Amino acid sequence: MKVLILYYSMYGHIYRMAQAVREGAVGVKGAEVQLRRVPETLSEEILAKMGALEVQKSFAHVPVCQVDELAAADAIIFGAPTRFGNVCGQMRQFLDATGGLWAKNALVGKVGSVFTSSATQHGGQESTLLTFQVTLLHHGMVVVGLPYAFAGQTRMDEITGGSPYGASTIAGGDGSRQPSDNELEAARYQGRHVAQIAAKLFA
Ligand SMILES: Cc1cc2nc3c(=O)[nH]c(=O)nc-3n(C[C@H](O)[C@H](O)[C@H](O)COP(=O)(O)O)c2cc1C
Repeated sequence: MKVLILYYSMYGHIYRMAQAVREGAVGVKGAEVQLRRVPETLSEEILAKMGALEVQKSFAHVPVCQVDELAAADAIIFGAPTRFGNVCGQMRQFLDATGGLWAKNALVGKVGSVFTSSATQHGGQESTLLTFQVTLLHHGMVVVGLPYAFAGQTRMDEITGGSPYGASTIAGGDGSRQPSDNELEAARYQGRHVAQIAAKLFA
């Protein structure tokens, strides 16, 4: 049973969440978990101006995903930061290249799930997750979120990401806030939950 974790991260928050998703998924018996990133679409000049060049080097070793790798997976967990309340362009461009898979019904019946990150608490996490899931539904995927069985999403004693639509983290206006223990635990829960469902469907 193959689980693909596919992400885009500019400043490392989604990458850290993707690692936690992976930690959750690998613990499920029979799960073969792969981590992949989508291609960067911005030039090095622009990335440097955005202050992202150095941090991107820390995950440059993660292989860039080929579109056909999606067809080989049983479950795909997508991670992308919010851009203006929506999925970032790098991920959208990759998704726009999956038309050939759509034409062949190649992703129909696979498990799909999403997680995100935004600068601010109410800057579009839910809209990003929900609009992302629309694409998965067009592909005929079985969409899985983050159930309230992960009780950490109801806590009120600290600021936290996480919703029934998927795990999330809040990076802060200057990006200095890192994923909290609770947000990482949500990501682990989601990775485990998706892999457990895929195991029931495909093992
Ligand atoms: C062009 C652009 C648009 C953004 N739009 C939003 C937004 O609508 N709401 C928000 O809270 N954060 C917004 N952000 C902040 C990013 O979501 C934040 O940098 C990201 O979640 C950090 O994740 P990363 O480190 O994995 O890249 C935006 C950032 C950029 C560069």
